[in-house]
Amino acid sequence: MSGVNEIRSTFLDFFARNGHEKVASSPLVPRNDPTLMFTNAGMVQFKNVFTGLETRPYSRATTAQKVVRAGGKHNDLDNVGYTARHHTFFEMLGNFSFADYFKEQAIELAWTLITREFDLPKDRLLVTVYSEDEEAAGLWKRIAGFSDDKIIRIPTSDNFWTMGDTGPCGPCSEIFFDQGESVFGGPPGSPDEDGDRFLEFWNLVFMQFEQVDKATRVDLPRPSIDTGMGLERMAAILQGVQSNYEIDLFRRLIATVEDVIGSKAEGAQAASHRVIADHIRAAAFLIADGVLPSNEGRGYVLRRIMRRAMRHAKLLGAREPVLYRVLPTLVAEMGRAYPELVRAEALTTETLKLEEKRFGQTLDRGLSLLTEATEGMGSGDKLAGDTAFRLYDTYGFPLDLTQDALRPRGIAVDLDGFNSAMERQKAEARASWVGSGEASSDAIWFPIRERVGATEFLGYDTESAEGVVLALVVDGKETRAAGAGTAVSVILNQTPFYGESGGQLGDTGVLRGEGVVVTVEDTQKVANGLFVHRGHVAQGELAVGAALELVVDHARRTKIRANHSATHLLHEALREVLGTHVAQKGSMVSPDRLRFDFSHPKPMEAPELAAVERLANGVVLQNAPVETRLMAVDDAIASGAMALFGEKYGDEVRVVSMGAAEEGEKAGKTYSVELCGGTHVRATGDIGLVRILSESAVGAGVRRVEALTGQAARDYLTEQDARVRRIAAALKVAPGDAAERVEALVDERRRLERELGEAKKKLALAGDGSQVGAPATRQVAGISFLGRVLEGVSGKDLKGLVDEAKAGLGSGVVAFVGVADGKASVVVGVTPDLTDKLDAVALVRAAAEAIGGKGGGGRPDMAQAGGPEADKAGEAVAAVERALAG
Ligand code: ALA
Repeated sequence: MSGVNEIRSTFLDFFARNGHEKVASSPLVPRNDPTLMFTNAGMVQFKNVFTGLETRPYSRATTAQKVVRAGGKHNDLDNVGYTARHHTFFEMLGNFSFADYFKEQAIELAWTLITREFDLPKDRLLVTVYSEDEEAAGLWKRIAGFSDDKIIRIPTSDNFWTMGDTGPCGPCSEIFFDQGESVFGGPPGSPDEDGDRFLEFWNLVFMQFEQVDKATRVDLPRPSIDTGMGLERMAAILQGVQSNYEIDLFRRLIATVEDVIGSKAEGAQAASHRVIADHIRAAAFLIADGVLPSNEGRGYVLRRIMRRAMRHAKLLGAREPVLYRVLPTLVAEMGRAYPELVRAEALTTETLKLEEKRFGQTLDRGLSLLTEATEGMGSGDKLAGDTAFRLYDTYGFPLDLTQDALRPRGIAVDLDGFNSAMERQKAEARASWVGSGEASSDAIWFPIRERVGATEFLGYDTESAEGVVLALVVDGKETRAAGAGTAVSVILNQTPFYGESGGQLGDTGVLRGEGVVVTVEDTQKVANGLFVHRGHVAQGELAVGAALELVVDHARRTKIRANHSATHLLHEALREVLGTHVAQKGSMVSPDRLRFDFSHPKPMEAPELAAVERLANGVVLQNAPVETRLMAVDDAIASGAMALFGEKYGDEVRVVSMGAAEEGEKAGKTYSVELCGGTHVRATGDIGLVRILSESAVGAGVRRVEALTGQAARDYLTEQDARVRRIAAALKVAPGDAAERVEALVDERRRLERELGEAKKKLALAGDGSQVGAPATRQVAGISFLGRVLEGVSGKDLKGLVDEAKAGLGSGVVAFVGVADGKASVVVGVTPDLTDKLDAVALVRAAAEAIGGKGGGGRPDMAQAGGPEADKAGEAVAAVERALAG
């Protein structure tokens, strides 16, 4: 008997042998289609190849594609558990031809695979074709040897496949397996076709058209092939069981559910086991592809799936969280084919546990409210919309969970009542934000937020995606379109652009659509989850409804990631080195540098800075993966996560952890754990290097470090290194000796300056006749006069010399004229015993005049002046002498 894993590889190997490239499944969140909530078919990743927009190095491909059909055009959520073959998540096996082979070979390949490889008996097989497709009918006749009654012509859209409202499409041919008379049901097209007897397991789509919009369908450049085989259905056929839930994979999952809850999958209970087994798959695969539970968009679909599974676990008697205990079986069964499941196992376990814990608290109370509210009701009755809304709003019951719970009793929900209760609540919210005093420039965003919902952020997992324009704002007003050159704010349904928050700057990049290019200069997050892309229409006209390719500036974002992760490392390192009083007071993460403000009472010492840098770089060298989890705030704080400064939190938070502590009390434990909504490197090695540039004060008790990472840090160090080399070259020593050499030079210079000063002093006071000017002390009009020109002595040194000379004279007048840098300065000193007769200021003025200076000032015992005519220095001395003699 063939297990699921063998069937998958048999299929892929068969097509690989027939010239098909084995291509990995694309993620469940489509990267290339803004109109799809989840990847709902194997062809989604090839959509642009079919339409000719994109080319690949192969023209045939085969995949095992992860598919979720729980939201959007293909939605099977309500049927899960109650039918033998519906799933929220399943695997679609497919082969694709991109303008290579067409109908004939597609049918031939399919026929060979199912009859030769899978050995299905021909007499149990039959097919449908689109009623107008005579060619396909003829081919089946020839290739399979089918009689006309085995080729059923279907005139409806059942045999015309479309991915969604738009996209590649075409007539299709479905292959059915007859499970035999013991199973109820009629052939396709018959009144009993909904029975299980005739099981459709493979759909061959003859891709011929592209649905451009509702009214327009155009031919594809060249006809192509897209097929989809339900892996679980094929397994059921090959394993001879009538329900997908009886195949090997599901038997093991259901056995685990029985084990962990302690309840047998028998009777009416079995549906609950099936729901849990199905939903755990969808939840685990969605989480592995980056979806986390939330109250909007994809995250809400995941939450609904998880909560439905939890209600069923409760029905089976579970008291504790149990879903996460089913996960290891799933990982064991499917982890080899989908390694992302293994990689995300820890995250998935925690996310499941957290959701179960949180919802567990309200589930019981909600269920008893539901029981009370429906007491005495029976089939055909309706639960009041208000009650359903209260269950939704207060107890976290998604509407479909309430419907699912009432379904076995035939009770419906008053949907109009539910919707008007929802509307009332929105009106109240509106009234409250109108009065909340938000700046009027922001007021525009609230109505938009309410109308279009929060923007789904895809940027944790991808830097490019497609999105649809939901609103445009120009000059503070909403508009439908904006032409080239206009400054515009763009709101999209989803985006990989990070909106500025938590200190991290918003992303920049480009939005491109048909004939239109918008440059994004900044992204802001406003009004509780609305991402505003601010920029300019560079080309063409941008209109609401346009589908755009959204591309974040990768180089810039890469630098931001490194700086943000480095901020976390510095934060922890600062606490380690300075103490746990260090708390974040703010931060700024830009592509160029990072800034981190923290509480600490005094400047950091150089060895402390060096220690912080060494610790942070130690974790960089670990190249440890950066892990992100979703946690309840209380749990996150209890686990030691450091909260971001000034952030407001909902009930759940992202927790970012990285590295392992190498020393100290925390040795061996996770190095950094922080609550953070920012974007981070995948592994600490991506930071490259952390280099602290400065440490300074920003306020009382608050310090700031600024740092560089990666290439910027290396460039900085390279520059520093070049400087050292230049210094070493100038000193003619090895760079390693430069510092000592400079220190020695500085010491030597100090010594020389000292010696020079001494020498000048000696010279000024003693006078050895070599200087221009008058000889040593002379008597002028009965007063001792010492006058002298001192070459190379500047004004600021003159005073000291004059003071000393005055002391040496005891009584008399000193006039020194210093000549330096082409200027002359003069200082005249008069000993205190003479100041009632002589005025130093008057004397210095006489000297100043001689050297072309004006004025001069000071006190009667000491005055100073200067002048430009340095060559007349001797005359200045003579002028003082004359004044004395006069
Ligand atoms: N795209 C086709 C389907 O999903 C094969 O059925």
